[in-house]
Amino acid sequence: MAKSKYEYVKQFERDDSLIPNTWLVIRIDGRGFHKFSERHQFEKPNDRRALDLMNKCAETVMTEIHDIILAYGQSDEYSFVLKKECDLYCRREAKILSTIYPPSFDGRIVQYPSDNNLRDYLSWRQADCHINNLYNTCFWALVHSGKTETEAENILRGTLSSDKNELLHSLFNINYNNIPEMYRKGSVLVKQEIDFKTLNQKGVEVIRKKKIVTILHFFS
Ligand code: GTP
Ligand code: MG
Repeated sequence: MAKSKYEYVKQFERDDSLIPNTWLVIRIDGRGFHKFSERHQFEKPNDRRALDLMNKCAETVMTEIHDIILAYGQSDEYSFVLKKECDLYCRREAKILSTIYPPSFDGRIVQYPSDNNLRDYLSWRQADCHINNLYNTCFWALVHSGKTETEAENILRGTLSSDKNELLHSLFNINYNNIPEMYRKGSVLVKQEIDFKTLNQKGVEVIRKKKIVTILHFFS
């Protein structure tokens, strides 16, 4: 087909190829989830069903996109780590980002050249999970015990982690370390190779390998 006179508009598109040989981390974050969680009456501070659903969706994404080697989720966000040699959509940023996850999330792709940078990124997100969850656990325990939201905010203003642990223990008999790991640390999805039995073309039982997605709640 001859080139149309409109073809020139393509020149306005910027080349968004991501540089080669870097870890690609795609972080998506639920849009307006504060309102969304209120409308759907999520349990506070952690709604098991919603978090399980996030994990289930991420597991499906990870199974479908072979280049994802690890994923980390907490609250309304998920980070997907694509291997350095990933050639999905020839590493075109917009293509990768706009197709990664069907519901409405904002996302970004950040490129990390070294394994250390990648490890630090994941530690940073997990630290964020811990700080927010410790605060939210205190906040909602205070509110559920009859304080107003403003009173709870005032009680927690300026407190350290140790103060919050102490508050939970002395006022509510909650040992923070006994709260489910998924709430305290988020979820880590990795692929593990397993052996499975199947029949080959001649009907003989053979053992093959396949990768399955496994959910953990810690980094080792
Ligand atoms: P934008 O991302 O800027 O659109 O705002 P947002 O409303 O999504 O808030 P943000 O991403 O900063 O924070 C996530 C919000 O989701 C939290 O503040 C909570 O209100 C809500 N949320 C996430 N997980 C849970 C949960 O398990 N239970 C409840 N009740 N709320 C949750
Ligand atoms: Mg959000």
